Amino acid sequence: MTADSHFQRISPSLLSLLFEAVGSNNVITDVERLEIYARDETEDLIFSPEVIITPESVAQISALMSLCTQYRIPVTPRGGGTGLSGGALPVHGGISLSMEKFKQILEIDEQNFTAVVEPGVITQVFQDEVERRGLYYPPDPASRGSSHLGGNLAECAGGPHAVKYGVTKDYVLGLEVVLPTGETIQTGGRVLKNVTGYNLTQLFVGSEGTLGIITKMTLRLIPLPKYRKVMLVAFNSIEAATVSVAYIFQRGITPSALEFMERAAVKAAEAKLGKKFPNGEAEAQLLIEVDGHHEKSLLEDIQMIAEAVEKNGASNVLIAEDNQKMADVWALRRSIGEAVKSISAYKEEDTVVPRAALPQLVRGVKNIAAKYGVTCICYGHAGDGNIHVNVLKDKLDDAAWEKNADPAIREIFHLTVSLGGTISGEHGIGHSQREYLPIALSNKEIELMKKIKSLFDHQNILNPGKIFPTIA
Ligand code: LAC
Ligand code: ZN
Repeated sequence: MTADSHFQRISPSLLSLLFEAVGSNNVITDVERLEIYARDETEDLIFSPEVIITPESVAQISALMSLCTQYRIPVTPRGGGTGLSGGALPVHGGISLSMEKFKQILEIDEQNFTAVVEPGVITQVFQDEVERRGLYYPPDPASRGSSHLGGNLAECAGGPHAVKYGVTKDYVLGLEVVLPTGETIQTGGRVLKNVTGYNLTQLFVGSEGTLGIITKMTLRLIPLPKYRKVMLVAFNSIEAATVSVAYIFQRGITPSALEFMERAAVKAAEAKLGKKFPNGEAEAQLLIEVDGHHEKSLLEDIQMIAEAVEKNGASNVLIAEDNQKMADVWALRRSIGEAVKSISAYKEEDTVVPRAALPQLVRGVKNIAAKYGVTCICYGHAGDGNIHVNVLKDKLDDAAWEKNADPAIREIFHLTVSLGGTISGEHGIGHSQREYLPIALSNKEIELMKKIKSLFDHQNILNPGKIFPTIA
């Protein structure tokens, strides 16, 4: 039985059952909308759903899930559609289950530093809301202006501030989840410590919408740091920039962000934003931010960082003097992903290695690019050892691109793993990386994960075609 023959197409009679389950106002079949929900931000991948469902209540989701399990209809949950590994793509058709109507911030508990939210809340809307109360929710993927908290949870999103504050998983305390059977469970709670049985909450974090539909999230908050300082450091070589990274931490400083951008990444962002940036011609730059509650200590940190990078060959150190300059520098950095994409056909990789292995990773990536004739543009969260490698077709002809992209990526991933790293830090495996999973995980690990998947979803209706390789 092929994977597709396992699933049922949505016939007119099944469609009327869906109407009954969720109400006809929450079922969308018009072609223009289907085209939008056929994509996320992953490369040029397009997989159309047969139907979009935008439920308004947990009861509707529950009715829907039991129906879909009964009739074997694929369900692909969708947040803001900003994912970079195809997690929200309905690769087997069926239903795109958009959580866009679950957009309430239900509670911000200022006494206990927690919040209860629905999954369709836009990340930045939530961050702004808690910041108004002097609180902070750090996970901030580049897409935070449109990504949803539920999608961030599904992919365990990180972003630049993860280096000091951790990723999404570090802020999830409890969940309400509708299972593929239609049953609803509550996991975890509002407590900061919890060793009560297996940690089901964290099992859902990063499970890429394959185990259950998240309908409520309890999140941890921290106090908002009062001060931030941002510096941009230029280097004459990629090597000098990457070597500096671990050195800064070894001096005892934990920056609140430490981002790497090579020249081609900055040039792409400049072209996209129609704006030049200081140090734009440097071979590589580090964007370094420090934050805290005492301005004076931040100035001391900046001084120590400046000395550290100068010892490692920095050619120029700029300090963003005011809020506008800081915002400009961050806009430059956040626009790189989009900007690099528009150069040519490309594949987005999300390598992560122990921080001190960064120079070997980037050097190795450049050698692999030269060997296969592809262009690799590197940028990302250097402080975490998490570098986004965009593998571009650029000037390569179609046949060579077809032939070489996959072996180049495999070699990059083998290098990553040999350095003690793995193949995704924050974008997930989703659809686009699944054939590479065995490079990072053993057969036994994949087998255990598949068993967990079938325990939750015995008909494999929930986000099928994700995480697991076709042959394993
Ligand atoms: C970034 C996204 C691509 O760091 O993760 O810009
Ligand atoms: Zn990133």
